[in-house]
Amino acid sequence: MYVDLHCHLLPGIDDGARDLAQSLAMARIAVADGIRTTVVTPHHLNGVYVNRANDIQAALVSLREALIAEGIALKVLPGCELHLVPELPDQLANGEAMTLANKGKAVLVELPVHTVPMGSEHILEQILSQGLTPIIAHPERNSQLRQDPEILAEWVAMGCLGQITAQSCTGQFGPQVKESARDMVSRGLIHIIASDAHRDRRRVPEISGGEAAVRRWTNRQTAELLARVFPQRLAEGDTVETGLLMDALPRRRVSWWRQLVG
Ligand SMILES: [Fe+2]
Repeated sequence: MYVDLHCHLLPGIDDGARDLAQSLAMARIAVADGIRTTVVTPHHLNGVYVNRANDIQAALVSLREALIAEGIALKVLPGCELHLVPELPDQLANGEAMTLANKGKAVLVELPVHTVPMGSEHILEQILSQGLTPIIAHPERNSQLRQDPEILAEWVAMGCLGQITAQSCTGQFGPQVKESARDMVSRGLIHIIASDAHRDRRRVPEISGGEAAVRRWTNRQTAELLARVFPQRLAEGDTVETGLLMDALPRRRVSWWRQLVG
């Protein structure tokens, strides 16, 4: 059973589900893939969408009622995909920005598609100093991180986590993104597989394909940590023991990572 930590399931508030019918169709796909809990993660502060914590909670109540009425056995929790902008630490401090599952422990943060803006690391440090763990959303889809994964390695060494998109692992975003996904997973820079679903077609809420790919690239134990164990722990507000990942990964890669983080 899966917990999906990244899914644009709430209807009509970002570029995810257009309406409630599409949300319900997505929820059925999720359940069929073995997802039992979904953290809804609308965009916030990405220059287009603003979704404050209170708005997300209110929208979630309606979706929950609809899921129950339709008999769809999917638990939904509040969350947000927070753009990494200078005002984010203040918004987290005053409760305007939603943490993962509203647990006040971890936050899902996204970068622009192509760049890592100046000051990104400083914002991550500020978030870490608030006692929150930043989860970097789909670094394999950011052009600069693909070219220079050392940047991601430094952030992971600081205490950040990496989230890979399941469809990146199965090639839906092209061969370069897939290869980068494989490289980041193999280096121990990725801790979570999530769907980042937006629709009931093409960008759908499925995790199983990503887990299978990671299993082929590494081993069963690593794939289970990324697809099942770590997402569940984070949704419950628990910490992730990255040492488990280092122990699980094929040894050749682990030694590389240990050298890096000292
Ligand atoms: Fe997303």
